[in-house]
Amino acid sequence: MIEILNPDELARARVTGRLVADILQALKARTKVGTNLLDIDRWAAEMIAAAGARSCYVDYAPSFGRGPFGHYICTGVNDAVLHGLPYDYSLADGDLLKLDFAITKDGMAADSAISFIVGETRPPESVALIRATEQALDAAIAAAVPGARIGDISAAIASVLGAAGYPVNTEFGGHGIGTTMHQDPHVPNAGRAGRGYKLRPGLMLALEPWVMADTAQLVTDADGWTLRSATGCRTAHSEHTVAITDGGAEILTLPSSGPA
Ligand code: MF3
Ligand code: CO
Repeated sequence: MIEILNPDELARARVTGRLVADILQALKARTKVGTNLLDIDRWAAEMIAAAGARSCYVDYAPSFGRGPFGHYICTGVNDAVLHGLPYDYSLADGDLLKLDFAITKDGMAADSAISFIVGETRPPESVALIRATEQALDAAIAAAVPGARIGDISAAIASVLGAAGYPVNTEFGGHGIGTTMHQDPHVPNAGRAGRGYKLRPGLMLALEPWVMADTAQLVTDADGWTLRSATGCRTAHSEHTVAITDGGAEILTLPSSGPA
């Protein structure tokens, strides 16, 4: 199903989007060397409750996972890139952490993911991976104008990731979002410009380029959820929820303090 939001729904989606972004930034600020992934999950649950929102994850049981997710945030460390199930692990200096977070508030969902390096060490390869997904996300947002097609977004993402020298995996990508987290249309991270569903004002999309340094192949962890790079290489993921408006894509998941 594809939802086209009315102005009242869009206004509520803006509130949810801002909340998602502010919680992600608060979690990032609290995350230090030695922080346990289960601490981050608990903080996320507390912040959701304090905001009067609901987790899109905790009861979610899609075909690509094993049973309900049972947690409030995805935490992917280093080679873990998507659907990272929080577990008892304390973060080390230089770890590349991905946080992916979605909630519903007043009936509207929003979904966003950030990647950052924990501690003081700045491994250049990790910095480059993160920058590539952020630049691909910027290109995706720039392509998401009314009248453009899903394929224009897909081609923009693949072009940035490919130019940076990374293989592109198309098993998981972006998606429509609205009153629920996962809707049509699917937004593949590679595709042909000019093809696919035509974008129009009121459409809300989660755009989410992700990348693995040296492989396009994923493996599923024994936990039944976490997707890792098949080679053990590092990975990154950047996601925003945007609304198509007459003026272009409005980013809904920017924090109150502005772009991080
Ligand atoms: N937020 C993820 C996405 O970007 C979905 C995570 S589903 C979960 O689409 F169950 F793993 F949490
Ligand atoms: Co998403």
